[in-house]
Amino acid sequence: MKSYKIALIPGDGIGGPVTEAAWEVLGRAARGAGFSLEGTTFPWSCDFYERTGTMMPADGIETLRGFDAILLGAVGWPARVPDAVSLHGLLLPIRKAFVQYANIRPHRLLPGVEGPLRAGAFDILCIRENTEGEYSGAGGRVHNGTDDEVAVETSIFTRKGVERILRFGFEEARRRRGRLASVTKSNAQKHSMVFWDEVTARLAADYPDVTVTNYHIDAMAARMVMAPESLDVVVASNLFGDILTDLGAAIQGGLGFAASANINPDRTAPSMFEPVHGSAPDIAHLGIANPIAAIWSGAMMLEHLGEPAAAAAVMAAIEAATARGIGTEPGKHRTTEITAAVLAALA
Ligand code: IPM
Ligand code: MN
Repeated sequence: MKSYKIALIPGDGIGGPVTEAAWEVLGRAARGAGFSLEGTTFPWSCDFYERTGTMMPADGIETLRGFDAILLGAVGWPARVPDAVSLHGLLLPIRKAFVQYANIRPHRLLPGVEGPLRAGAFDILCIRENTEGEYSGAGGRVHNGTDDEVAVETSIFTRKGVERILRFGFEEARRRRGRLASVTKSNAQKHSMVFWDEVTARLAADYPDVTVTNYHIDAMAARMVMAPESLDVVVASNLFGDILTDLGAAIQGGLGFAASANINPDRTAPSMFEPVHGSAPDIAHLGIANPIAAIWSGAMMLEHLGEPAAAAAVMAAIEAATARGIGTEPGKHRTTEITAAVLAALA
């Protein structure tokens, strides 16, 4: 029987329970489709940091490299470890080291979920650049703690980085409804964002079947609220994509529904699948975290592994559960109840 090696990193807070839920559903889907998932759990988290002084061992990246994919829950517990330490010690280095340059985040309403817009149907695929841009980590501080203190954080946009994320977006648009929205702020940021627009225009010539529209990030934020049905594929830089995908999560009913995949399209290293939401310290011990975002992310993992039938079965099971009103509103059902409903639909 075909088997895939999956690294599980539940991380912090609700990352644990939602990863457990996703893992149970994925295991069941795998059995149903005639393959198996072999999981190895890594306890890397803020707890781990407090015990060892690092978020993951020095050879953590090399350990993960041997897996077919990574399923991650959430990283961060700011009351105990500063976010800048925990995220730069675990999540962000994985995205960069494994060249997971495409962060894919689908935003659409599941059956039974109304969402705050009370809008009609929409189906947006946000594609966020995931390895450079505003998250490059280039910069520094001088004259710390004095009146002359200076902080510099430089965005880095490389030709290679911008081209590959836009090309990925064009390919997705071609597979979907043929529309690509490229998001910049080239009216204000005259170097990096004008460069991005130029690359978009140049690549567009290779995709005459794709309709391209350039939006400024502020206008896109408004459009996602006012006319989400007008959007198909949306490509944005790292930080812009980060912000737009929380907005995407909001219009689809909340962070509990927002799935994401950190993809290495060249398959030179494992890809990582994680819900958009964080560790949610405020509800972490209440047992009410919605596991749907994590389960949906798991379906994206199955798709990436080359198991589209199992992925489709998981999505259908999620939709069957929400269509019955299970997990459609925050706190209405417990994590275990939602998981049970998805498992039942899968059976
Ligand atoms: C996300 C998160 C992360 C990001 C944080 C936790 C660093 O907000 O995956 O969207 O900004 O990428
Ligand atoms: Mn985010």
